[in-house]
Amino acid sequence: MSYPYQIKSFEEYQSAYAKSLAQPTEFWGEIASYFTWRKHWEMTLDWNFVEPHVRWFMGGKLNITENCIDRHLKDRGNQPALIWEPNDPDEAHRVLTYKQLYDKVCQFAHVLRNNGVKKGDRICIYMGMTPELAIAVLACARIGAIHSVIFGGFSAQSIADRLQDAHAEFIITSDGAYRGGKDIPLKSIIDDALIACPFVKRVIVSTRTRTPISMIKGRDVWWEDEIKKIETLGLHDFEPEIMDSEDPLFILYTSGSTGKPKGVVHACAGYMIYTNYTFINVFQYQPGEIHFCTADIGWITGHSYIVYGPLSAGGTSLMFEGIPTWPDASRFWDIVEKHKVNILYTAPTAIRSLMSFGTAPLEGKNLDSLRVLGTVGEPINEEAWHWYNTNVGKGKCPIVDTWWQTETGGTLISNLAGITPAKASYATLPMPGVEPVLVDEKGEIITGNNVSGNLCLRSPWPSIIRTTYGDHERCRTNYFATYHNMYFTGDGAYRDENGFYRITGRVDDVLNVSGHRIGTAEVENAINMHAGVIESAVVGFPHDVKGQGIYAFVVYSGDTPADAHLSRQDILQTVTRVIGAIAKPDKIQFVSGLPKTRSGKIMRRILRKIAEGELEQIGDTTTLLDPGVVEEIKAGRV
Ligand code: WT7
Repeated sequence: MSYPYQIKSFEEYQSAYAKSLAQPTEFWGEIASYFTWRKHWEMTLDWNFVEPHVRWFMGGKLNITENCIDRHLKDRGNQPALIWEPNDPDEAHRVLTYKQLYDKVCQFAHVLRNNGVKKGDRICIYMGMTPELAIAVLACARIGAIHSVIFGGFSAQSIADRLQDAHAEFIITSDGAYRGGKDIPLKSIIDDALIACPFVKRVIVSTRTRTPISMIKGRDVWWEDEIKKIETLGLHDFEPEIMDSEDPLFILYTSGSTGKPKGVVHACAGYMIYTNYTFINVFQYQPGEIHFCTADIGWITGHSYIVYGPLSAGGTSLMFEGIPTWPDASRFWDIVEKHKVNILYTAPTAIRSLMSFGTAPLEGKNLDSLRVLGTVGEPINEEAWHWYNTNVGKGKCPIVDTWWQTETGGTLISNLAGITPAKASYATLPMPGVEPVLVDEKGEIITGNNVSGNLCLRSPWPSIIRTTYGDHERCRTNYFATYHNMYFTGDGAYRDENGFYRITGRVDDVLNVSGHRIGTAEVENAINMHAGVIESAVVGFPHDVKGQGIYAFVVYSGDTPADAHLSRQDILQTVTRVIGAIAKPDKIQFVSGLPKTRSGKIMRRILRKIAEGELEQIGDTTTLLDPGVVEEIKAGRV
């Protein structure tokens, strides 16, 4: 199998790009024709960004798992679809060929049906990075249930919020998960979440850590027992549910600048086609290659470039249960050597964290199999880019810097490995179908090169967000109302003399901590729940490894806490309970008041400067209700 729509030269990129904007329906229609459809679509695209209303391949019928599994069985049934590398290097790895994956997904789809799951039901998946997680995701897609994967680092409270928002009646989890030296008691966290979610009918629990857990009669069942029932019944193939192109495939919750996380909804056909197209083109994937994306399937990167992109392309996807630094900082390099990885796709945070161990962990490791490197999730600083290029890629592997978001489903701006030029710290050029524009505060489009602005997108690509679950108005106000007729990304960008884009980071109140997206408002709400806290303001500050750290300014009742150290620990506990450990502030400063305007608005700009240590650049404070508070905060900086 080769890919007829794989771009092979810079000229081909230019002509594909030009065609994609001039004739989007012809362009995407041709690519879509290479997929397996149960019924051809009637209309390729219908859209407006006012409501917003975006529909791709309308009237088409398909099932994404038929495209990700069944259609590869004839030619590559015995090729590995998934290679699983466990947390502990001493445990055996597992390989699932396309045929084996087919059997497992069909079996588990039967389990879901046996447990009452129907098309359109929402299923929450809260698991560690085991093959069962990928199987669960695909089985949901096969039966037409809408999966909502929740990253294993979120707390019971966060899970309950998401279960309630999606009204998910089914949960798939594990007894526990291994991550580095830690065991995460997943089922016990689910049990806490379910106290607030009596509508949950069934919890299917797979065995991983053999941690003792509570199993509630009538509600909780073991994955392995349920599989045995299917075997006893002699059930094998599972006829895929025929889905409409626009039927929701999944919900993935993500943070914004206000309120609780939003359920981003992606639709079956457009998401499938765009993740496939970008996987094949960005990485220049060649059949038979081993693709190692180090993300967790709990994030969009794992959905798109561990599961759906690689499998829809008939590729081999390596999934890793552990973390880059356990048992030591050579874990990634051992995996690359052991499995002869060809494509390594990771986050700048991981690179910076490995950089801090120097090059010793790389010594003696054979990385010759590597052909392409990738980064995702946050801006990559030049130093990290060069370290990656020199020490991992040995100067011969193109690095793709892929910019995209949960809402975009797949990569929107990136170089194509070895085909279009790379430039350190630049995502570079838009993918076909993607029309980036920079706008100023007034919403005027900034033309020309060597300019900066807020990054917007002017026309829809197939995997654009369709709605925010249960609240379409929220989707409109968040993404389509800031600037007329444009999708606003929340990012700032610079366009250089060649038209290459460099993403400069969020311009809204969203933080990017170790590539994890966290809303400042969410962290503030969590801190404010702590008994001693009156109010708080959270901002980001530059962090050597995490990219951004979290700095919290906290007003405590009675001015300062009696035991500041203990109160800090207590606040961290509260944040861990309410959101999860990933949202814990790195720094907490107790202050007597926050800098506010006369209308009561917190001047975050000032707090950001203080957190960044740019005390001389605070600027005008005369509009503040109490300018004196700024001096106090500056003096008390932690
Ligand atoms: C935000 C989206 C993309 C999937 C993982 C994160 C930042 C993402 C890059 C990049 C600079 C990047 C942006 C974006 N971001 N990729 N290559 N260069 N910044 O998905 O959690 O939805 O976060 O991550 O700020 O808006 P996400």
